[in-house]
Amino acid sequence: MSNPSKVYTLVTGASNGIGKALAENCAARGFNVLLVALPEPKLDEVTAALKQQYPNQSFDALGTNMMDKDSPQQIYDWCKSNNYDVDILVNNAGLGNSGPFLSRDSSFYFGQMQLNMVALVMLTHLFLPEMKSHSKAYVLNVGSMASFFDIPYKGIYSASKRFVYSFSRSLRKELEDTSISVTVLCPAAVLTNPDVIQRDKEMGRASKMTQQTPEEVAEYALNRTFRGRPVAIPGFMPKAYKALGRIIPYKTQMRMLANAFIKQSR
Ligand SMILES: NC(=O)c1ccc[n+]([C@@H]2O[C@H](COP(=O)([O-])OP(=O)(O)OC[C@H]3O[C@@H](n4cnc5c(N)ncnc54)[C@H](OP(=O)(O)O)[C@@H]3O)[C@@H](O)[C@H]2O)c1
Repeated sequence: MSNPSKVYTLVTGASNGIGKALAENCAARGFNVLLVALPEPKLDEVTAALKQQYPNQSFDALGTNMMDKDSPQQIYDWCKSNNYDVDILVNNAGLGNSGPFLSRDSSFYFGQMQLNMVALVMLTHLFLPEMKSHSKAYVLNVGSMASFFDIPYKGIYSASKRFVYSFSRSLRKELEDTSISVTVLCPAAVLTNPDVIQRDKEMGRASKMTQQTPEEVAEYALNRTFRGRPVAIPGFMPKAYKALGRIIPYKTQMRMLANAFIKQSR
């Protein structure tokens, strides 16, 4: 006999950084959580820690490389075969970088676009039909402050995050008469992995002023999500940067951004 289905929050990129903080915060709110990330030991470590801390809730993990074309279907099939019913989908997994466009192989950008955009769309497409059967369901997509700017030396990343923002806003409108609310999270600097920490050092004050911890970002993002808000921009400075983007003339903005981000590229 198959197990009766249980309702879960599914978080991608849940083994580190913002995704880990989102998974932990959801667990603290009493939810069952499915953690998806690369098949590395830390995914199992994070999952085991949650199981130990919240013995009355359910947790499971799937290691998969979401740059692979078949990974979203694999995630969906894993949920189906285990009777995991998802009512909150958190599309967090993403890859950042900086440097001149030609400094990376095209395969790097292919993987980055696959992870940041294609996998996010495919997972949303797979899970939405069953999410509609819940009286309330949520999609939280992780964009970035980069969603609001054209960023030299970070062009594919910022374009991919603009995509996430635009897709999230338009999907939200499409779903306004359904039980599903869509929120897009747009954080600025969050010190999560050695790469981000190094890039942040090179950026200097402009980045330091926006810094937040993954835990602060997760708490704010989930509060906005469950209030049914369209956008979550955690922190005063990131909100100010977004506003400045509307005031500063485009040419000046581009010069400032190029100067700031070339520092990360040396
Ligand atoms: N950190 C920031 O300053 C910042 C700012 C704005 C937006 N964001 C966005 O926030 C999200 C999370 O960023 P983060 O800084 O928290 O990242 P992170 O610390 O590098 O963690 C990324 C998570 O995604 C997983 N992951 C990476 N590549 C994957 C793949 N190919 N398949 C499956 N899982 C994969 C990682 O697994 P492993 O740990 O095993 O690699 C990890 O669990 C991203 O979408 C990022 O663009 C971050």
